[in-house]
Amino acid sequence: MEDNLPSIYHCRVKHDQAERILNNPIIMKNKNRKIGILTGGGDTQPLNALIFSLRNLLARDGFEFFGFEKGWEGILRKKYADLRSLPDFGGIGGTVLRSSRVNLSTDDGFRKANQNLSDLGLAALVVVGGDDTLSNVYGIESVPCIGISKTIDNDVGSLSVINGKIKTVNCFTLGYPTAADKIARLVSLEEGIRTTAYSHERILIVESMGMHAGWLAMASAFGKPDFIIVPEFPLDYPSFLRTLMEQYARDKNTVVVIAEGARFGGGEYMNVDPSEKDAFGHSRFGGSGQVLRDRLKTDLKGFMDARNVNSVNPSYLYRSGAAGSLDVSAACRIAEKCFQMLSENKDGEHQFIHIEKKDSGFTAESCPFSDFKKTGQGRFPKRHIDRKFYNPDAWSATDLWFEYLSPIVSFRPSDLRYGLY
Ligand code: F6P
Repeated sequence: MEDNLPSIYHCRVKHDQAERILNNPIIMKNKNRKIGILTGGGDTQPLNALIFSLRNLLARDGFEFFGFEKGWEGILRKKYADLRSLPDFGGIGGTVLRSSRVNLSTDDGFRKANQNLSDLGLAALVVVGGDDTLSNVYGIESVPCIGISKTIDNDVGSLSVINGKIKTVNCFTLGYPTAADKIARLVSLEEGIRTTAYSHERILIVESMGMHAGWLAMASAFGKPDFIIVPEFPLDYPSFLRTLMEQYARDKNTVVVIAEGARFGGGEYMNVDPSEKDAFGHSRFGGSGQVLRDRLKTDLKGFMDARNVNSVNPSYLYRSGAAGSLDVSAACRIAEKCFQMLSENKDGEHQFIHIEKKDSGFTAESCPFSDFKKTGQGRFPKRHIDRKFYNPDAWSATDLWFEYLSPIVSFRPSDLRYGLY
């Protein structure tokens, strides 16, 4: 908690900025001042920081602010609460609104949602989610929405118009910085699993979340694992096994990070459970670490004691708990941007807010949803790990990756050496 104090304090200080925004005469006041918000998809740490920063800004300016329960389900069931009467929960992780995965394109969902939103007479709806939750916005016609992306998978991109051209931007999703920092620490010598790996001369495999994108697995690079396996690059297992045996023979311990959506060389997922599909048809991932562990136990017989090959899966621990300071300040910046847009009451188009890395630092920027369609990339620009960030022959991050991620991850490994020889 203590760690978070400066960040939360920072949020409150930022309200002075809101006063300045309010005193700006060019801002037109919206007549209908009834705003709604929902959170959908997997929870992430800074969601409450976002909800309550925005609540504080809106409440001060006399807006009404309603939180819908369990994402789009709250719209369908007209279940909501007046957020102005709640204490400030901005300092704890997760979402007090709770979450769900609801696909409005089934069961007459869009018609019901549009009808309910129009009955409720909202001026705008703030939708916080990953690309599935946000994709529902495309079918909402009765109220303008402001979309905000959050996912520790960091796979939802955004766009900006630069010199008249629509370009993808260097951004991150809410929750990613906290989870990225966690995984780097978890595998490190200073705070993580490396100490057990070297003490017992083990091969230890750490699984990361990330169904189709390796952003979280790649963040572990800051904790210096020996190998990182991402979904974007199917694993050439025979070559990986050879290299791992050489590395183990040399160092006597190994840390491997593997994304849950990792694939073998033929492209098949290492582990996926189609029996638990979500509302958007996604199978449940998880268990790639165990699959790799079992394969290595078999293939390394005679080379080492199979008991010394093991795997762990921190799973939800990546996205649970308190938000780190970058995530909290990003949430506050997004809340300010959102508040400004709601106060301006623009032309009613669906808008998207993202955190963008500029030369001057991280800022909250916006673009209309309609720009996403123009690029022909589908609902949202997808973000994947490519060769500029990843070397698939060494299963490791490139120098450019470290440069790219260093403003996002605060953990820095020391040059500590260990072992008797
Ligand atoms: O939020 C994305 C994600 O974290 C994925 O990486 C993961 O597979 C998925 O959520 C699992 O979430 P749940 O078990 O809540 O459906």
